[in-house]
Amino acid sequence: MRTIIEPFRIKVVEPISFTTAPQRKELLKEAHYNVFLLKAEHIIIDLLTDSGTGAMSSGQWSAMMDGDESYAGARSFYHFESVVKELTGLRHILPTHQGRAAERILFSTICREGMVIPNNTHFDTTRANIEFNKATALDLVIDEGKIPSLKHPFKGNMNIDKLKAVIAQYGVERIPLIMVTVTNNTGGGQPVSMENIRQVSAVAREHGIPFFIDACRFAENAYFIKLREPGYENTPVRDICREMFSYADGCTMSAKKDAIVNIGGFLAMNSDDWAQRCKNLLILTEGFPTYGGLAGRDLEAMAVGLKEVTDEDYLRYRIAVAQYIADRLRAMGVQMVEPPGGHAVYIDGRAFFPHIKPTDLPAWTLSNELYLEGGVRAVEIGTVMFGEKDNDGATIPATLDLVRLTLPRRVYTQSHIDYLLEVIEEVYRRRDQVKGTRITYEPPFLRHFSAHFEPLV
Ligand code: F0G
Repeated sequence: MRTIIEPFRIKVVEPISFTTAPQRKELLKEAHYNVFLLKAEHIIIDLLTDSGTGAMSSGQWSAMMDGDESYAGARSFYHFESVVKELTGLRHILPTHQGRAAERILFSTICREGMVIPNNTHFDTTRANIEFNKATALDLVIDEGKIPSLKHPFKGNMNIDKLKAVIAQYGVERIPLIMVTVTNNTGGGQPVSMENIRQVSAVAREHGIPFFIDACRFAENAYFIKLREPGYENTPVRDICREMFSYADGCTMSAKKDAIVNIGGFLAMNSDDWAQRCKNLLILTEGFPTYGGLAGRDLEAMAVGLKEVTDEDYLRYRIAVAQYIADRLRAMGVQMVEPPGGHAVYIDGRAFFPHIKPTDLPAWTLSNELYLEGGVRAVEIGTVMFGEKDNDGATIPATLDLVRLTLPRRVYTQSHIDYLLEVIEEVYRRRDQVKGTRITYEPPFLRHFSAHFEPLV
């Protein structure tokens, strides 16, 4: 087979500024060994997130010039609304400035104390918005989804038996909503099968509980269905997306992912009653329902991005990048969450540095080493982010210590990726010499964003 090439030409470029290894040593020290505290201009390849970091197309930029900035009833809203309706089949479309705004509006409207919201795995902001409304967020992903090395085509699937058990335990009146996140970001960017979506939807309908999709990476999920689920080999991705949404009563969306924009999101649903209540809150906190905290030009960019993202040449290239990284890492002996997801590859930090104890933060250490070696910024998803403390203040490690190499959309080329792999290989070669890291300062909440660290000697 021929090389899968980037399905675009580059018309606008953004220079990368290079740093030397001695400079990075100083810069990381000044940033207290926390890559979140580095200036982005000091990074060569930035794989912190795929959220809002994508490159917009010429089609999106030209649509932005056509943005209608009217306060109410803007043409751009109706354009955006028609695209989302065509894609999802949902009736009420509320634009928001990003995904978590849609989550906040939805959960503040429907959650009450004592309620529970099942999901395959809640993303942090989803969980936080549920807990902020005094409800409980339950993760019901299948057991296979929790074992990094285990290969399974749809590790993002929800455990249907557990879902039924949760409904029996809590009762319908305490479950305002069932959610499924596609792809399952927290679980390694793993897809959910159409069969599983259909089953979750059937259980939800049987009990009269609304079913919502966290749709951030809907197109990547649909492409995995095309590649891996029997019966969908010849179905156009756009039709797979429509079928996925046809089982849902609503969705939340961070357009910063699969609408390939730098800012934007939406909340969509069929219920007239919920939509009215959500719109009231939208007006109070985001903006009038025909702009929801965005400019008309942002709505135009989302409308075009939502069409471009289901282009199969784009998706083939997108998935091939993660696959290529994973194949090369596997050949080097580096272990990761298998199979790789669509938007990221998650390296197993504990397997990378078997001599570093989980309490000495192997994945955090690896993210620092990637920066020191080649100016690569990745993100630790492990003990710093999710670890807890016992009564004596000692660290209880997280279940896994992973480093997420998150791929911005349409931003980096093959040679950037080869450079990344060289950097990882170099750190892997000298892994025995690397020692762990300790925390010297930490804030009370979300410590990974601002904690200070020091390398162990
Ligand atoms: N749901 C999922 C599955 C996400 O991955 C994210 C964001 C959100 C909701 C929230 O959307 O950022 O627009 O408010 N994920 C980013 C990440 C931040 O890096 O994985 P948002």
